[in-house]
Amino acid sequence: MAKKKLITEAVYVTFRPFLSPWPWLYKWQVVISTDFSFLLLAFCMLAGGYMSDEILAKLNGGEVTPLTAKRKNSVFSDIDMSRWKDYLGDIITDTLWLLGARDRSDTHSGDYHGNFVPQIAYQVINRYTKSGEIVLDLFSGMGTTLIECCHLGRHGIGVELNSDVVKASSSRIYASDTPYNTSAELINADSASDEVRDLVLRQCEKFGRKNVQHVILHPPYWDIIKFNDDERDLACAPTCEDFLMRFGKVVRNAYELLEKDRFMTLVIGDKYAKGELVPLSFECMNVCRNIGFKLKAINVKDIQGNEKAKGKQSNLWKYRALKQGFYVFKHEYIMIFRK
Ligand SMILES: C[S@@+](CC[C@H](N)C(=O)[O-])C[C@H]1O[C@@H](n2cnc3c(N)ncnc32)[C@H](O)[C@@H]1O
Repeated sequence: MAKKKLITEAVYVTFRPFLSPWPWLYKWQVVISTDFSFLLLAFCMLAGGYMSDEILAKLNGGEVTPLTAKRKNSVFSDIDMSRWKDYLGDIITDTLWLLGARDRSDTHSGDYHGNFVPQIAYQVINRYTKSGEIVLDLFSGMGTTLIECCHLGRHGIGVELNSDVVKASSSRIYASDTPYNTSAELINADSASDEVRDLVLRQCEKFGRKNVQHVILHPPYWDIIKFNDDERDLACAPTCEDFLMRFGKVVRNAYELLEKDRFMTLVIGDKYAKGELVPLSFECMNVCRNIGFKLKAINVKDIQGNEKAKGKQSNLWKYRALKQGFYVFKHEYIMIFRK
């Protein structure tokens, strides 16, 4: 409380002169002649801008002030920290993501086997990018990320190997609501290739930037869903080691294309093979860390209601789980990394 008063006093002493000539003269005389603590107060004022959030929060009785919050605003999102509580109904800050039913608004649809719910892209784009920045999705699929980019005023670049999927998704992306002056571009290429970096960088230049400000990766969960017969498709990898090696090439490209200090989202689940759980998620997580990404979060997302085949045969799966001693997957991971 005393420290809080100290800050208030410092503000008063400093700014009072600009309001009225006589009281400040009196104030300064009193302070200067009786107590040199005004030097300390001035120091507090000057140092305030350089203090950590924790110290400033303590000085202000535990609350992070709008002053400190404002200083943090511009780093990686448009979230106005001076009114951070207003965002809590919309932006998730916990590790358990209960997203509910798929958002089917605008041109979003759940008909592409393996696409994620748009709420994932909504969350990470709002949390980790600013308006007009570039989001890169290296496994674009039916364009869920790019459609959300259109909605939220970000430029989107999607890379997708399957040309039929590129065609189908482009009509959805271009028909989607785009209220801001941004564009979404699809590149038909192998995200594990060296060439993809130049292709993405060329697109960045067209958007007036040198690199991308967020990357989303939603790879095939190895061979769970067969997307096509192209051997460059990660789902066609003959072994888990081969899948991880190819995934590593994609992550290396992501690392090079991402702006320093910015974030990458990995959406991934596990699989069973030959009576054993294959922890693909954690294997992929380690690939990202070994390439140099810092792990920021392992979020668990509920997949109930959005899973396709298992949803229809849930009793059969429960029976098998009881009989064979395993648990039916009801979650996947949204991992957040920082460069
Ligand atoms: C899990 S899906 C992504 C779905 C996407 N998040 C959506 O919401 O529509 C994975 C996608 O990666 C594509 N893919 C697989 N291997 C690839 C590669 N080497 N380069 C680019 N795309 C690839 C597949 O064709 C598939 O569309």
